[in-house]
Amino acid sequence: MEANRPVALVGDELLLDDLLRLAAAAGCELDRVPDAAALRTRWKTAPAVLLDEWGAFECGLLDLPRRTGVYLVSTGTPSPAVWPTAVALGLDRVVELPAAEHWLAGALADLAEGPPSTDGRVVVLLGGRGGAGASVLAAAVGQAVLTSGSQGLLIDCDPLGGGLDLTLGTEATEGPRWPELHLTGGRVAASALHAALPGRTAKHGRLTVLSCAREGHGPEPDAVAAVVEAGRRAGETVICDLPRHLTDAARAALDRADLAVLVVPAEVRAGVAAKRVAHHITERGVTIALVVRTPGPTGLHPKEIATALGLPLLTTMRPEPGLVTALDRGNFPHNTRGPLAKTAKTILTALHAT
Ligand SMILES: Nc1ncnc2c1ncn2[C@@H]1O[C@H](COP(=O)(O)OP(=O)(O)OP(=O)(O)O)[C@@H](O)[C@H]1O
Ligand SMILES: [Mg+2]
Repeated sequence: MEANRPVALVGDELLLDDLLRLAAAAGCELDRVPDAAALRTRWKTAPAVLLDEWGAFECGLLDLPRRTGVYLVSTGTPSPAVWPTAVALGLDRVVELPAAEHWLAGALADLAEGPPSTDGRVVVLLGGRGGAGASVLAAAVGQAVLTSGSQGLLIDCDPLGGGLDLTLGTEATEGPRWPELHLTGGRVAASALHAALPGRTAKHGRLTVLSCAREGHGPEPDAVAAVVEAGRRAGETVICDLPRHLTDAARAALDRADLAVLVVPAEVRAGVAAKRVAHHITERGVTIALVVRTPGPTGLHPKEIATALGLPLLTTMRPEPGLVTALDRGNFPHNTRGPLAKTAKTILTALHAT
């Protein structure tokens, strides 16, 4: 038993089973105690106390002092007789199951995770035209987070992209992709994602990867929202590779983004196509940073693209030497000084300035 775990004094075995199941799904260790005497030692320190009617009466008999974080859990409306005792203990809320299951799962997950971090950031990457280099750059940003010794969550939101794991050269790594990830309850803990999903570690850094697969369905909007929010709450850098044609799932990521990176080759047609993509991003109120890929075939200047789009130019990016061969061989470049890595670092600096 640990002081920072919530405690349950619940006599109804079926209800207790439900609570333990909900807690486990929320990644929260819930301690059960057999009687009020055992609860007394945890009364001041436990972050939350779950009582059923029997448990509340037991606590009342011991005259435990009032505290915050006391929840009366029931499978129907609690009997009026329990109110005076529950209120004297400091009742915060009656949790009627199964109606309040969702709320309770979220509250337990909050307890397991601790207070949300304010360091978490979300960046989404999109191409101004097909094949612009957005997915490769998303993978490079993930790689840059990893090599900087930070925590990152790379999320593939393009079910027709062939799988971002293939771009990273990690398609042989076992672990769930979107089709195998079944999220319920609209919430997931970052710790559960770290435990379940494939990823890489280096120094103190970790990159967790949630890729689409070669078969099966892509992500659902609620699932994208849950995963992005889990990463943000945990203080991670969340990187989402989005398709240009915004699906509901892509919008779920975009609506949570601190920054959208638009990758546009220095070509007239790419600039024209990018204008429409940019419009869809700005109408959702998200700030865009423009990355122009150079050189263009006719020497179009990156600033001309930026002016035509009415967007600030974050940086330009020259071709990564040997990239095409490296990708085909499943060797995502580890060069930390090439154009890709430099652009990724510039993006991270801009993201953390938001
Ligand atoms: N930085 C780069 N340097 C050189 N070549 C690149 C670079 N980025 C991408 N490419 C080339 O462009 C191809 C397409 O890149 P990528 O899949 O990242 O584009 P995309 O914008 O995600 O395309 P899609 O429209 O399919 O989502 C790569 O397979 C690679 O051949
Ligand atoms: Mg792509």
